[in-house]
Amino acid sequence: MGNKLLANNRFYILSFSILLSVMVFAWLRLTLADNQLLIMRTQQIFGLLSIIYLYVALAISPVAAIVGSQRIKPIIFARRSIGVSAFYYGLAHTVIVFWGQMGGFSQVEYLPALFIWSLIGGTVAIAIMFYMTITSTDWFIRVMTYRWWKLSHRLIYIGGILILLHVWSLGTHLVSASWQFALLGSLAVLAGLQTVRVVKFVNKKWQLFNRDESVVVGIAGWAIVVTLVVLTPSVVPNYHSRHTDSSKTETTNIHKMMGH
Ligand code: HEM
Repeated sequence: MGNKLLANNRFYILSFSILLSVMVFAWLRLTLADNQLLIMRTQQIFGLLSIIYLYVALAISPVAAIVGSQRIKPIIFARRSIGVSAFYYGLAHTVIVFWGQMGGFSQVEYLPALFIWSLIGGTVAIAIMFYMTITSTDWFIRVMTYRWWKLSHRLIYIGGILILLHVWSLGTHLVSASWQFALLGSLAVLAGLQTVRVVKFVNKKWQLFNRDESVVVGIAGWAIVVTLVVLTPSVVPNYHSRHTDSSKTETTNIHKMMGH
C-alpha cells in the first residue's frame, strides 16, 4: 500500500498543490502588511491557479489524441489529480472572496445584477468541479459505467465557459491588455488542440474528409472558436469598466466592499 502510494503521481500532484497554496499564502502574509490586501491577493492568485490547473487538465486529452495516448500515459493517469487540484483552488478562491472579502450572504442583496450573474456562473462552475471531484475515484467509474462517467465529465466544458464569463465580467485583471492577450493566446492554443482532436475523431468514425479537407475544416473550426472568444468582451459587459457610474451608489458601496 505504502509503495503504491509513493509510485502514484496523483499523490505527488495533490500534495504539491496543497503545499503550493500554503507557500503562496505564507509569502503573501510576509510581504503584505494590510489584511484586506492579503485576502484580495490570495483569492486572486488561487482563482488564477485554479484556471491554470483546469487548462492543463483540458489540454491533456487533445494532446493525447494527437501524439498517441501511449506516449503520455503517466500524464493521462495524473489528469484526475490535476482536475481535483483545480477544484481545490477554485473552492479556496470562493471561500476567501465570498466570506473574507465580500462579507457573505448578507451582502448579496446589495449586489448589482451583473455581479450576481457572474457569481452564479462561478457557482455553477464550482458545483460542476465538485461533482467531478467526488466522482473521480475508480469506484465511482465502475458504479456509473465508464461511458456515462466520461459523458457526464464533459460538463467541464460548460464549466470552463462559465469560468471564462465569470472572470471576464468580474475580474480586475482582464481589464489590462497584456492579461487579455495572454488569455486569448492560451485559449487559441487550446482551441487549436481541440479542433485537431475533433477532426481526427470525426474522420476516424465517419471518414468524412480527405487530408486537405481536414486541414480546411480544422482551420475554419478553430477560427470560429477564436472569433467567439474575441467577441466576448463586446457581448458580455465588464463590471469594472462600469463601476465609475457614480449615479449607482450601490455599485460604489460594492466597490468599497471589494477593496478596490
Ligand atoms: C471554479 C470556480 C471559479 C474560478 C476558477 C474563479 C476564478 C476567478 C478569477 C481568476 C477571478 C479574477 C481575479 C482577478 O482578475 O484579479 C475571479 C474573480 C472573482 N470571483 Fe471567482 N472563480 C470561481 C468561482 C467563484 C465563486 C463561486 C464566487 C463567489 C460565489 C467567486 C467570486 C469572485 C469575485 C467576487 C471576484 C472578483 C474579485 C476581485 O475583483 O478581486 N468566484 N474569479
